[in-house]
Amino acid sequence: MGSGRHWIVSWERWRIQADRPLTSQTRGYVPMEDSFTTIADLLFCPDDGASLQYFSGQFQCTSCSRRFPLREENLLEILPRSPCELPGSVVSSYREAYLRAFDETYCSDEPALAWGAEETVSGSWARKRRRQVAMVRQVITEGSTPNETVRCDISAGAGYYTFSYAHSFRLVFHCDLSVQNLNYSRRKARSLGIQNIFFLRADYFALPFQQSLDRILCTDTLIRGEEHDRMLLSVIARSLKPSGCAVIDLHNWWHNPLRRLGVLPENFFQNRSYSNREARILLKLAGVHRYEVFSFHQEFESGRIEWPLLAQFLPATRFLFRFGSSKRYSCGK
Ligand SMILES: C[S@@+](CC[C@H](N)C(=O)[O-])C[C@H]1O[C@@H](n2cnc3c(N)ncnc32)[C@H](O)[C@@H]1O
Ligand SMILES: [Zn+2]
Repeated sequence: MGSGRHWIVSWERWRIQADRPLTSQTRGYVPMEDSFTTIADLLFCPDDGASLQYFSGQFQCTSCSRRFPLREENLLEILPRSPCELPGSVVSSYREAYLRAFDETYCSDEPALAWGAEETVSGSWARKRRRQVAMVRQVITEGSTPNETVRCDISAGAGYYTFSYAHSFRLVFHCDLSVQNLNYSRRKARSLGIQNIFFLRADYFALPFQQSLDRILCTDTLIRGEEHDRMLLSVIARSLKPSGCAVIDLHNWWHNPLRRLGVLPENFFQNRSYSNREARILLKLAGVHRYEVFSFHQEFESGRIEWPLLAQFLPATRFLFRFGSSKRYSCGK
């Protein structure tokens, strides 16, 4: 692994995974063994970064004494006292949605549907998501062990990634700000019989982790402008254990040049995408100097014979980056 080394992924190895359904099979899951005390050891106050302790059904900050409510048997609300003051460059649509989501009051809502939920998207959208889920599997699970490694999906949405590889980890934190998305994902996890996921209603600008995670996954989220994306990358790096690593994706500006040239209608609206060079600059600005890059092409089922050849010529849909918290990054290898 060298700084910025670019990988075309091992498709043959991943083909088998791509044929699987979006979510994991329930067989093989064991009930969540991590007690709340063990979970508290991994969590920190989102306001002052102090450690938490669990006693008498409460997660409490050891510095400011703030208590964080356990809303369900596997969902903790752990928001900072106030929302983050977003830089002026963050688009107004995100700013408004963020403040709205932050101010929501938690309530249990059984029929809720999440952003990108299988029940709401087209077949072709779901297929592309399934391909990316299959590709990410190897990048995020490499070096992990099912009875040790702790993974966190920091903006987990409908849980495509959370559920698919839950069995490869000891414990998975599924974080999101949206009450609706969390309701959907909890229901889904229950129906799949997955029991090693702990849900956090958390704000990714003030994540409740300090060098406490082995793996972090953040997909389809670094799209809100450079300052937003840089802030988030810094939070991710701070949340990783020194031996941990994060996998993030960035949309590639050059994917589908016809759309860029205005020949096809714009479908990415106010969101930010990056060229390969811009993506590397972003990481550098966020203090991430050592990483691996993987190209994801959404057009083909992985494993197709023509794929490795075509991939040389087609622009990647997204760039995946894998990096650690320090310059000594080695992804637990
Ligand atoms: C585009 S979706 C991506 C979902 C998922 N990562 C995926 O790739 O399918 C973005 C997610 O980020 C969540 N989100 C937005 N702002 C957030 C914040 N400040 N903290 C935590 N989650 C946030 C949204 O609720 C939504 O679920
Ligand atoms: Zn505190």
